Amino acid sequence: MGLTHIRTPKNFVLEERLARFGTAIEERPEAYAGRWAEACWPLGSGHAGGAHFDAVHLDLGCGKGAFLAESARRAPQDLFIGMDIEPICIAYAAQRIVEDGLTNALVLPRGAGALGRIFAPGEIAAITLNFPTPYPKRHFAPRRTTTVDHLLAYRRIIAAGGTLTLRTDSQPLRDYTLIQLAAAGYEVLWSSDDVRREHPDTPASEYESRLAAQGATVWGVCATPGAEPTRDQIAQGRAAEQSLMAYLPDDLESLPYVPLGMEAAVTNLINRRRREAARERA
Ligand SMILES: C[S@@+](CC[C@H](N)C(=O)[O-])C[C@H]1O[C@@H](n2cnc3c(N)ncnc32)[C@H](O)[C@@H]1O
Repeated sequence: MGLTHIRTPKNFVLEERLARFGTAIEERPEAYAGRWAEACWPLGSGHAGGAHFDAVHLDLGCGKGAFLAESARRAPQDLFIGMDIEPICIAYAAQRIVEDGLTNALVLPRGAGALGRIFAPGEIAAITLNFPTPYPKRHFAPRRTTTVDHLLAYRRIIAAGGTLTLRTDSQPLRDYTLIQLAAAGYEVLWSSDDVRREHPDTPASEYESRLAAQGATVWGVCATPGAEPTRDQIAQGRAAEQSLMAYLPDDLESLPYVPLGMEAAVTNLINRRRREAARERA
């Protein structure tokens, strides 16, 4: 999953899993654009004239679905859609949905680039990005799901007053995202250096549980689309698509936690600085 490559467990036959938990997977999501709230009510039993879910939530990069399933369990009147580009994650998340008996959650085997074909303008009440793959290197920055261009695409499907929420173990990714949000014309509702403390009721995702156990703090931001951005604003966002190393504090040696995916780069930079300092002393 993401940076830590997903290994297929022993005895895991992907096709068999995808078929077994297929009731929670929509393989042709493009067919439902604009009518998710009606078409999925009640999920799995076809269309029931006029009835619909109150709101549609999207967990983009849902991973194995712990956050998605818990969110769905807490709000049965809303529909929760998870999307992920990793088929193994889709299989695990679908298994969880089926085994938890949830009828208001499903997963789509698609990535962020497909959003405009899957959802109509204003169809989504809230998008959540939990611990998105950070792609710290500058070269891969366009893949981050919080680039100004991705944020512009989210604007088109988020309902009036709707939200986009990021949670991450990465202070650099959160700070980078604040710049990209400004470039895409979002208004920040809250920004937090410790989401778990300030929003304790939020369900934990798999990555949050795993990284918190390793000492991570959860950084986050929640924003809503504001005035349309100007071309200059957007250009500034694109120009800021640099390495996440640029967002780390100067004093790397006393960092209490290094974000996932940046360990090697931080170690290399610390060693380089030590070598340079030794050379200067010599
Ligand atoms: C680090 S994992 C986090 C999973 C989960 N949200 C959590 O917090 O436990 C990042 C997930 O995002 C998925 N992903 C990466 N790029 C994506 C994209 N462009 N669209 C959708 N999912 C993506 C990966 O396959 C992976 O499952």
